[in-house]
Amino acid sequence: MSYRTKLILSFLLVILLTILITLLIQRAVIEPKWTQFLTNFSLERRGPELASIVAQNIQRARRWYELRPLLEQLSMFYRVKVFLTDANGDLQVQSRYPEEIQPVQAEIDKALEGITSSIEISLSNGQKADVVTSPVYVNNKLIGTIQIVQERTNLGGVLSFPLTSSLLIGGGIAAFFSLFLVYLVSRQVTLPIKKMKQMALKFSQGDFTARVELSSRDELGELAQVLNDMARKLEETERIRKELLANISHELRTPLTTVQGYIEALMDGVLPEAKREESLKLVLEEVKKTESLVNSILELSRLEAGAIKMELCPFDLKNLIHWIKDKLDLPYQRKGVNLELQLPEEKIIVLGDPDRVGEVLEIFLDNSLRYTEKGGIVRVSCFKKGNEAIISVKDNGIGISPDELPRIFDRFYRSTKIPRGEKLGAGLGLAIAKEIIEAHGSKIQVESAPGEGSCFTFGLKLERG
Ligand SMILES: Nc1ncnc2c1ncn2[C@@H]1O[C@H](COP(=O)(O)OP(=O)(O)O)[C@@H](O)[C@H]1O
Ligand SMILES: [Mg+2]
Repeated sequence: MSYRTKLILSFLLVILLTILITLLIQRAVIEPKWTQFLTNFSLERRGPELASIVAQNIQRARRWYELRPLLEQLSMFYRVKVFLTDANGDLQVQSRYPEEIQPVQAEIDKALEGITSSIEISLSNGQKADVVTSPVYVNNKLIGTIQIVQERTNLGGVLSFPLTSSLLIGGGIAAFFSLFLVYLVSRQVTLPIKKMKQMALKFSQGDFTARVELSSRDELGELAQVLNDMARKLEETERIRKELLANISHELRTPLTTVQGYIEALMDGVLPEAKREESLKLVLEEVKKTESLVNSILELSRLEAGAIKMELCPFDLKNLIHWIKDKLDLPYQRKGVNLELQLPEEKIIVLGDPDRVGEVLEIFLDNSLRYTEKGGIVRVSCFKKGNEAIISVKDNGIGISPDELPRIFDRFYRSTKIPRGEKLGAGLGLAIAKEIIEAHGSKIQVESAPGEGSCFTFGLKLERG
């Protein structure tokens, strides 16, 4: 059942219940009260009164039939049948309706003896009726009798019909308006829901470009906002995934093409004997490069997926820095770049994964070497600050332009402005470093200006105690 149908049905139910309850209240409370009210005006009290009204008019009238209009009026007003007899008890005039009611002669006879009576009779239709009979005197002389018959209908019913019908009409009007209202309100609810459903459907088909346009500030508006944000993120993720795949395939194809070329040349025997060994060395180099690239890609994707757990343990930071320096001294000496350390006297024990932190330092130092000219200086320093050890790698190399700075941590991002003689990197180093440092709960900061050099800084928690 649709939301709208449910809403309409529940509205109708409420209206119906309201009518029903009102009717019950009317039956139980209003009708008895009304009946009681009417009884007070009923015949028994009014009988003698009517008799005196008639008596006054008989005085004025010359003929019995002249009283007829009066009787009709009384009959209509009080819903009674009225009979008038003369002093002999003969019926002279009567009101017209209800025609089937006949005078009760026995009571008329009593009235002729001066007795006012009030009895109850059963009519031919089974209804009960009250009969009041009074003598009519003019100047203390009995001139006739008046008999008034009132059918005992359900007096409350007199009221109940108009009440019930007005209730039903009111209910009908209310139902009409509420249907209209439900239509408007439910449209406001169901339309956005339908839109969002369509959007989710598109998601499931891999289309993340869909958006819901909804400006309302209610819960639905908020939901639409969340959905749109989700779509934006999914679209971005999808874009990155495609880009990554394209990048990876490109990076792998280049060395493979080179290797293929060499192997084909070797097999064809077109290379002179002297060049063979050199070619094989180049092939090996390409294969190693490819392997390291594949390793980097694997490592980055596992870091991003959170599949690599950091083995956090206390370790001696100065020791690690010394170790990395020893490892990289040779390539630095080869290029003629000075690698300096600036470490405090005291021991610095930090909490972290020493292998991974060492990897980060290697990435920084590898970059600094790559992007610093011969004769340049690269300095690794560390110091305590609060409950952290701050480590930085600073060079006076080519630097990074402000427009490139926000992108250098992106996967596969690499500058095209590489120094002469340097090979293009894969652009994964800083992305890996960023993941590792973030997994340590810290952040990498960069300061750099073109032509002045760069400084990469991060903090590590000091071991307590
Ligand atoms: N010390 C540095 N000096 C100048 N540019 C740097 C330095 N470190 C990183 N960069 C810039 O950041 C880019 C991304 O670095 P990285 O992720 O290590 O990739 P790669 O070194 O393979 O190019 C580099 O291509 C370079 O443009
Ligand atoms: Mg690098």
